Amino acid sequence: MKVEVIQGDVARFKTSLLIVNLFESVKKPGGATGAVDKALDGAITQAIESGEIKGKLGEILLIHSFRKIPAERVLVVGLGEADKFGAEQARRASAAAVWTAEKLSVKEMASIVHGAGIGGMEAAAAAEATALGFLLAAYRFDKYKSAKEQSKPLVENLTILEFDKAKLEVLKSGIARAEAVAWAQNLARDLINEPSNVMTPIEFAARVEAGAKEAGLEVEVYDEQWIQKKNMMLLWGVAKGSEHPPRLIVLRHQGGAKDDPWLGIIGKGVMFDSGGISIKPSNGMEAMKGDMGGGAAAAGAFLAAAKLGVKRNILGIIPAVVNSPGGRAQNPGDIIQSFDGPSVEIISTDAEGRLIMADALSYARELGASYLIDIATLTGACVVALGSKVAALFSTDERMQKLFMDNVAQTGEKLWPMPLFEEYGELLKSTAAQIKNSGGRPAGSITAAKFLERFTDKKPWCHIDIAAKESTKKPYSCYRRGATGFGVRTLLRFVERWEV
Ligand code: BES
Ligand code: MN
Ligand code: ZN
Repeated sequence: MKVEVIQGDVARFKTSLLIVNLFESVKKPGGATGAVDKALDGAITQAIESGEIKGKLGEILLIHSFRKIPAERVLVVGLGEADKFGAEQARRASAAAVWTAEKLSVKEMASIVHGAGIGGMEAAAAAEATALGFLLAAYRFDKYKSAKEQSKPLVENLTILEFDKAKLEVLKSGIARAEAVAWAQNLARDLINEPSNVMTPIEFAARVEAGAKEAGLEVEVYDEQWIQKKNMMLLWGVAKGSEHPPRLIVLRHQGGAKDDPWLGIIGKGVMFDSGGISIKPSNGMEAMKGDMGGGAAAAGAFLAAAKLGVKRNILGIIPAVVNSPGGRAQNPGDIIQSFDGPSVEIISTDAEGRLIMADALSYARELGASYLIDIATLTGACVVALGSKVAALFSTDERMQKLFMDNVAQTGEKLWPMPLFEEYGELLKSTAAQIKNSGGRPAGSITAAKFLERFTDKKPWCHIDIAAKESTKKPYSCYRRGATGFGVRTLLRFVERWEV
């Protein structure tokens, strides 16, 4: 979708579909919506009076203009209660508009910015959220569908209308940001949506490299020989069960000063998680093609950060593997020496994420990262605890944790703090090695975090468990069914606002 912002009057602009908005319990709309209402002889006011539209978030009302204005139709979208309005509400209102426009087979439409100046939201942020909602909601992954389904209407052009000429430049900057973020997040969604017969570690690395070329981001990709020579045996132990060779992807964006510290971001890249020899039940196993959601989020955040020229030094590590049972696969009971930490007894080959992440955390430190963040679809226990909309945030650094929590209001990606109690670290004591990779079912997301903590060497660290957040089974927010790219905005906003 091409987005353009111009100075214009909603009552005079020619378009197939004009989008305006309405807060809940407003009886007489003002601003642009008021101007359209007036030109339509009070049609919107009347619909409010008759209860046809209440202004609830995402609610829609379609009105034909009968040539009273140049716009053929007007779509009023609800913004919800004014005191609950923010970036997420703006994105959702835009999403409702896109999905309605598609049903109407509209190829081109125009919209005002949702909520500029309301609720302390600045014009640039409002424009960004409005445009991002449109761009994320328009995303589709239908390349394997029939030609007929692929030809379902898509909105090709969006014009953002602003009456006040003085605001134009600010809105343009917000929209440019939205385009960079949407590009990166939708690329991450492609990585997640592609099935594992296509999205192998080699393909994943190639797609990240192609994106990096476009964004001006530095990438290095290491192969299975390098991984073994480097003694990343936890990573190799998981990888070797598959015929698809692993890759280790290193991303570098030096936007800060030369001697600024490096922030390491590690993303779990399991292209498919069958469980390995500790094989998973087959029911629902297809969802494990998304077990690289953390790696996709990290890659997306780096691509956006590079495109936007974020002034920080960030180092990304994505270990990319397939967890498969096979003649060469590791077995429960195997003992493996980690890159620079304890020897590990493999209790479950299905606790593979923490193994590859452990070596990647160590390697990030070796490359000079002094602050660490990791993001992973790590545990089913996290899904039990927080469901499919809220990610778990574990942290050894209050300042980093606070910044993540403060960003939730803007990103809409919900995080909830979880503890790192020492008692739970003890569940990982092994009789055969220094540590084991599974503490069993109790406190499963915490023991997984405690495992990772062993590889941080007490560096300030945050761990984000996004299991089941990488995709959605039902449409929500501005996402259709399928990959969400959860985490891209969370990581991007963190690195943008992080003070060294
Ligand atoms: N990739 C899974 C976790 C997962 C579950 C992600 C559901 C998304 C949705 C992870 O590798 C895993 O299998 N974890 C095990 C760990 C256990 C064996 C200690 C789990 O949570 O069951
Ligand atoms: Mn697993
Ligand atoms: Zn996994």
